[in-house]
Amino acid sequence: MLTLNNREKIADTFGQSCLSYDKNARLQRYSGNLLCQFLNQLPSLQSPTQKSLLDLGCGTGYFTQKLAAKNFKDITALDLSSQMIAFAKQRDYAGDVPTWVRGDAHALPLASNTKDIIFSNLVLQWTQPLSVALSEAYRVLKPGGYLVFSTLIDGTLDELKQAWARVDNDKHVIDYLTHNQVEHAWQSSGFTEVFSHCERVELPYPNVNHLARELKHLGASLVKDKRHKGLTGKDKWQKMSHYYREIDRAQATTPLSNGHIQASYMLYTACLMKKEN
Ligand SMILES: C[S@@+](CC[C@H](N)C(=O)[O-])C[C@H]1O[C@@H](n2cnc3c(N)ncnc32)[C@H](O)[C@@H]1O
Repeated sequence: MLTLNNREKIADTFGQSCLSYDKNARLQRYSGNLLCQFLNQLPSLQSPTQKSLLDLGCGTGYFTQKLAAKNFKDITALDLSSQMIAFAKQRDYAGDVPTWVRGDAHALPLASNTKDIIFSNLVLQWTQPLSVALSEAYRVLKPGGYLVFSTLIDGTLDELKQAWARVDNDKHVIDYLTHNQVEHAWQSSGFTEVFSHCERVELPYPNVNHLARELKHLGASLVKDKRHKGLTGKDKWQKMSHYYREIDRAQATTPLSNGHIQASYMLYTACLMKKEN
């Protein structure tokens, strides 16, 4: 269970990254665009002007802006970080300005049965337990409403995890839930599946320093149970970088010829429905 203190740290870490976030959000763009395609496929969304939408964990508002251009009836954009919301507010939005809410996915400050769609791109991996956040999404959706979301699952940043494991026994990478744990969480929250998909996305980086910098700029470098806080020694870092290259060469599905390394992300995307009354 995440404590209040942990949640504040998550909000702060993301808040500090809001200026650099958009330049580094390759994975977020990819997965958010997939979710937008899911929305386009839903027959009941052919007329978005009638529908209300919640962007849960809106971040810098990149997808809130895209969704606003689809003319939903009303859009609420919610995030744990007030800095992210302040940043997102500066964009130009087509149609009505979104309603901005600082709030927590574990206890949404929104009335029950009020939203037709909840869109949530790469946010729910930060919730713990996931089932609480999913139950909250279920409560806020109208019967027949959809939750369209993406999250990261076990296997994400495995090269980094394995490389560190050869150097020390500290925790350097977040523990992601397994595919089964995620499915169990949404099933126990009451949802039915419209469709779901899991894929391994490999992104290239010139070296491990670039990967670490990108994770930091995304606010994604916070590891809850790390024993030794603060900077890692140069020696350890060099060893880890060396092992990373070895592991990458052995495991990458298509090794890169330009000396770049790759990082793997296991991306789980789903469209779920709240039961009709
Ligand atoms: C990886 S960013 C994704 C932002 C946006 N959805 C996008 O696609 O660009 C994750 C966002 O989730 C927010 N977040 C993390 N935990 C949250 C929680 N418990 N409730 C609401 N937002 C949360 C963070 O503050 C951050 O803005």
